[in-house]
Amino acid sequence: MAAPQTSPSPVADRSQGAPAPLHAGLVMDGNGRWARRRGLPRTLGHKAGVDALKRTVAAAPDLNIRWLTVFGFSTENWNRPTTEVAELMALPQRYFETDLARLEREGVCVRIIGSRQGLSPELVRIIEAAEARTAHNDRFFLNVAFNYGAQADIARAARAFAEDVAAGRAKPSDLDEAQFGARLATAGSPPLDLIIRPSGEQRLSNFLLWEAAYAELIFQDVLWPDYGAEHLRAAVEIFAARDRRYGAVRADDVLAAG
Ligand code: FPP
Repeated sequence: MAAPQTSPSPVADRSQGAPAPLHAGLVMDGNGRWARRRGLPRTLGHKAGVDALKRTVAAAPDLNIRWLTVFGFSTENWNRPTTEVAELMALPQRYFETDLARLEREGVCVRIIGSRQGLSPELVRIIEAAEARTAHNDRFFLNVAFNYGAQADIARAARAFAEDVAAGRAKPSDLDEAQFGARLATAGSPPLDLIIRPSGEQRLSNFLLWEAAYAELIFQDVLWPDYGAEHLRAAVEIFAARDRRYGAVRADDVLAAG
């Protein structure tokens, strides 16, 4: 389905002009504040958040983003009031009911990453149908992290490897970054280039912690329901101006050092 995990270049290559992010992560934050500022219930903030997701997915391919991983519901979001959790659980249905046919037609491959535990059978049916209907697509990849927590995902991957060792399918010495990454929920997606978080908050909140190793972090002062193509374009421009060295040095600095 997706391109294999590839290692980043040891020296940032800027010879081809400004690099576009291939794989972007997005923390869709600020729905509650957006609603509160308008005197609306939080549920309307989440509803407006789904519209922002539609705008952003539509804008991403034109900005050369090919993989987008969005944070829809975290393992910690279960701690919200029951009524809000129920509203958040209804969002995938709200999104796919109106947009799945178009996503399928436009070549988008949808994958829902995160645990299915605790989700209703109806919700599991909806997300599995979305994955099945779009599995053949390869123009754009949309990973929706739902009931996802990076620490839980890392623990699950470690457990999976330990089980392989216990069953004789692997040796402890087999474990390296690639082997481990292949057991994470994002396996099959390319390395994460950037994480965008709107709403003014500056933290990762248990999102793609392993994958973020060399991602550029971009924080934007806009609440998620107001997010759109122009904000994504601004994020891509910030990304393009960053100097990504992956712990190495730029080629011209090597030459200058003699
Ligand atoms: C965080 O804002 C946002 C969420 C917990 C939900 C994000 C989900 C969407 C925008 C739509 C998802 C769509 C699908 C298909 C899953 P917040 O409520 O924490 O906002 P606040 O920090 O302002 O209170």
